Amino acid sequence: MMNPLKPSILIILGAAGDLTHRKLLPALFNLFLDKRLPEKFSILGFDRKKLEQEAFRNHLHEGVNEFSRRGKADQESWVRFSRFFKYFSLDFTEKDSYLKLSEELKIQEKTWEEEADHIFYLATAPSFIENIVNHLGEADLLHDQARTRVVIEKPFGRDLASAIHLNETLAHVLDESQVFRIDHFLGKETVQNILALRFANSLFEPLWNRTYIDNVQITVAEQIGVEHRGGYYDNAGALRDMLENHLFQLLGLIAMEPPTSFNQDEIRNKKVDVLHAIRPIPKELVAEVAVRGQYGDGNIEGQAIRSYRDEPDVAPESVTETFAALKLYIDNWRWQDVPFYLRTGKRLSTQIAEISLQFRAVPHRSFPASATELWVPNHLSIRIQPDEEIILRFQAKQPGTAFKLEPVDMRFAYRESFSKQSPEAYETLLLDIMAGDATSFVRADLEKAAWSAISPVLEFWGSTPPADFPNYPAGTWGPKASDELLERDGKQWLLRG
Ligand code: BG6
Repeated sequence: MMNPLKPSILIILGAAGDLTHRKLLPALFNLFLDKRLPEKFSILGFDRKKLEQEAFRNHLHEGVNEFSRRGKADQESWVRFSRFFKYFSLDFTEKDSYLKLSEELKIQEKTWEEEADHIFYLATAPSFIENIVNHLGEADLLHDQARTRVVIEKPFGRDLASAIHLNETLAHVLDESQVFRIDHFLGKETVQNILALRFANSLFEPLWNRTYIDNVQITVAEQIGVEHRGGYYDNAGALRDMLENHLFQLLGLIAMEPPTSFNQDEIRNKKVDVLHAIRPIPKELVAEVAVRGQYGDGNIEGQAIRSYRDEPDVAPESVTETFAALKLYIDNWRWQDVPFYLRTGKRLSTQIAEISLQFRAVPHRSFPASATELWVPNHLSIRIQPDEEIILRFQAKQPGTAFKLEPVDMRFAYRESFSKQSPEAYETLLLDIMAGDATSFVRADLEKAAWSAISPVLEFWGSTPPADFPNYPAGTWGPKASDELLERDGKQWLLRG
């Protein structure tokens, strides 16, 4: 099959950094092995670090060996792949660097005798974004809207005001259609499958509303701590690091109205409608609907875990939350008064990401009480990781002469139904960027709506330091207040210890 992608030059700014090493290069190498890269393709890596070509290649090779889903690279493929890239040690805060960059683009296009798409991937610390895009604009590298794209990674600001400011800076030199804001959750296979489950089946959609759904729960639980990212994380916290972006994207997909087409803006319009419909949280209600936590010493699967405040680069008296839970309502016809409970945290007991729709109780229990001791409401769970599964829980009669009900699961597991290994999120997203398809990227208005929705919580938490941190031991399901958030509504987390 001919590869339909146009000649492309991927310019990675921050090429010597962690993201390139762990995510981008392993993903690009896998695309290469799958023959999904454009026939005319080149990667220009820029960073301040002084590195010879050989040292740069070796560094990337190690990254691929360690982080590629296929494991170690075979030597022959690696050598063929490494011809695609070149490293330049340049300071991207200096104007002259962009003259060099511009020259390199021309040299490459001259060799191909063809104009190429230019993809500027900002794999740098967020503080460089504005400086880089301004330089790119000044060097006239962004004017061709059809051929030029800029990719940025979260965090997109740290509150509503800074997010608006960032968007304005981008809008100054770029058309919104050129901006690809990455939320890597949107590249995950099971997340993309939410659209298939909801809109390629007639079975679920009639039930997907306030008449049948009692509550919706979105949990992204991590066992890992902050690893080597204490410096960044201590200034961010769980609300900014995960909830405002990854969990809100899941919320958008799970709660959106059916799109009329697969047009990129149609899907994003439907998602942004959801975020715009989030009922504003009055500041005086924050303590009732939002829970924060920070892990103390604990134990995960037999291993002693030190508290967050003892992690490297974390302030010893830090009040940054490593756990956040939020109860939200979506004010529209479909979801009026259905609570959405979102939670995420680090150093929790299990590594799992799941969205569950809990159905309403049956209107009348005709069975005798002795039959329904184990009765639970139906729920549909979309498990995103570690196992990619969809599970429907319903009641069945236990085998035996007595009439007793027991909940059972109907389970679809990706790895059983499909033998093919799923691509990494970055593989899918990089291909989309090359194809210019922005469906799975965060549009400016969506970003703004997400920050607006959490602003009252950010402000309240920022102005009222927590008195009880650390308030959950590593290896548990978070602070007690997170269970109480649901218990007050007569509900429970479906995933619990
Ligand atoms: C990142 C967060 O965006 O997502 C990290 O900054 C988090 O703190 C990570 O660990 C989780 O992503 P994944 O794909 O490993 O579940």
